[in-house]
Amino acid sequence: MPESVLRVLTCGSVDDGKSTLIGRLLFECGTIPDDVMAALERDSKRFGTVGGDTDYALLVDGLEAEREQGVTIDVAYRFFETPERRFILADTPGHQQYTRNMVTGASTADLAILLIDARKGILPQTRRHAAIASLLGIRQVVLAINKMDLVGFEEPVFATIRHEFRALLGKLEFDRITPIPICARDGDNVTSPSASTAWYTGPSLLRALEIADPASRQAGPFRMPVQYVNRPDHGFRGYAGTIATGRVRPGDRLVNAGTHTEATVSRIVTMDGDLPEAGAGEPVTLVLDREIDISRGDILSVDPAPAAAEGLESWVVWMDETPLFRGRAYLLMLGTRTVVATVTDITTRLDMETLEEISVRELALNEIGRVSISLTHPLVCEPYETSRELGGFILIDRLTRGTVGAGMVTVVRKRNADIVWHRLDVDKAARSLMKGQRAAVLWFTGLSGAGKSTIANQVEKRLHALGHHTMILDGDNVRHGLNRDLGFSEGDRVENIRRIAEVSRLFVEAGLIVLVSFISPYRAERMLARDRVGNDEFLEIFVDTPIDECRRRDPKGLYEKADSGQIRNFTGVDAPYEAPLNPEIRLLTLERGPDALADEVVAALRIRGIIA
Ligand code: ADX
Repeated sequence: MPESVLRVLTCGSVDDGKSTLIGRLLFECGTIPDDVMAALERDSKRFGTVGGDTDYALLVDGLEAEREQGVTIDVAYRFFETPERRFILADTPGHQQYTRNMVTGASTADLAILLIDARKGILPQTRRHAAIASLLGIRQVVLAINKMDLVGFEEPVFATIRHEFRALLGKLEFDRITPIPICARDGDNVTSPSASTAWYTGPSLLRALEIADPASRQAGPFRMPVQYVNRPDHGFRGYAGTIATGRVRPGDRLVNAGTHTEATVSRIVTMDGDLPEAGAGEPVTLVLDREIDISRGDILSVDPAPAAAEGLESWVVWMDETPLFRGRAYLLMLGTRTVVATVTDITTRLDMETLEEISVRELALNEIGRVSISLTHPLVCEPYETSRELGGFILIDRLTRGTVGAGMVTVVRKRNADIVWHRLDVDKAARSLMKGQRAAVLWFTGLSGAGKSTIANQVEKRLHALGHHTMILDGDNVRHGLNRDLGFSEGDRVENIRRIAEVSRLFVEAGLIVLVSFISPYRAERMLARDRVGNDEFLEIFVDTPIDECRRRDPKGLYEKADSGQIRNFTGVDAPYEAPLNPEIRLLTLERGPDALADEVVAALRIRGIIA
């Protein structure tokens, strides 16, 4: 078996003939068993789109569902080889919403094949694929200009597309671009030169793949994320993982990047015995000469070790229907570690027509933009340029657990040494103690007109009468001052609540019982508030009033305005309200009046030891 392996990403639109091209490559490289070939010929007559001839696309679009819809729906890896090298081909669909799959496929690829329909030329899709490939660190591209037969194998068509693509190059970081005129259906220039393109002197597609450089994964200093600590018995302790970059030998001195403790490699253990040396991509178990504190997710490295980031700058490819907003928190997974991450800024996105950066405040589905992120726990990482493994991450929705974005670190922000957390002698506990209470946040959430402010006001009056120290934050009031710059778009509401979460945290530090009365329609932000304040000090109080009742009450006449279209994005009318799933307190306003409900809250505070 040939040693060298090239990882190839194929991207193209549904109709560009990608499946046919891949099928053709698999066929010509002889990896298709006879029985599959026989089935293919049979199927071509039934499902084929080339009039009964062998339809190579059917080899690739193997799934029944795909055949019926005529689209390919996931990342599929295909393998083939020539005497010179083996190929791993990641096939990703061209549908816009499947950008996610492309990111998955691209993150390990050495080269991308961008498929272009000769009749259509460069499409926005082509530019998007090129931009993603470039951002994901792919430096070699083959432009497979397909369906040349349909433009009479005319050189000018080919030349125009080639020039159009070259015009984009200033914006893309490709080192080598190979444009090739092909007809995937008939095999022209796929594995051997075509008689129909005498004017073309470059390599066939397969040849171009054979002579491409596998990206140098060996490069860079040694780094290995620890996948697990292998401790079958007391006599053995090894750290298992796949080497991300660099090489390692027994005798090398390694640092745990998170803790800065050092040890020396004594053995490199594998299933097939000990190794004298190992390099990037190899799964190994390292045994060290002494016990140092290392756990799953730590990064073993040569000195100097990569820094732990408190924040990072990145490119993010957004893959969710709900846009990415400033202020919202997500789970960020990098290698084997997951931390809570807040989007602190969104500055620009790539325009897919021009590949220019244009300024924006949020990212919609399939957009690619520059995003600043702050992390709740330090995370060892590196720029993606240096290491795909330590610089590539995904963003996960905290509630649905779905992957909503893929990111590439551009800048690692270390803790700002000039801003240190000043430890103060008088702290939250001391301040609360003096006030004879435990500091807490009572977070009232519910629809407009549900009765949040009315009940919060009653609760505060009771606490005040009992001699407690309180503070109330009310949506309408705070929007007159601190948050006067914010409206009611989703992005603004996210920021509204983020600020209130921070302010309530400060008041809790002051030892106060803070009553917060905001619609706060999104679970994600209420969760963020809970995180910032601390679970023990956070009581979510759901003022549960059905919308029909709120509408009937309509204390400010806002539902009427919303229904008649005078107000837009009104919660419950044309903007969502995500009801709490597990609130600490649920107040049913249809059953009891504000006084009784306020008593209920005060009683709950007693039970929880917040007041005596
Ligand atoms: S939140 O959604 O961002 O939490 P917040 O509680 O600050 O909202 O403000 C809600 C108050 O603003 C409502 O009680 C209402 O008086 C007023 N308001 C004005 N426009 C809207 C709107 N489009 N949606 C909801 N409330 C609105």
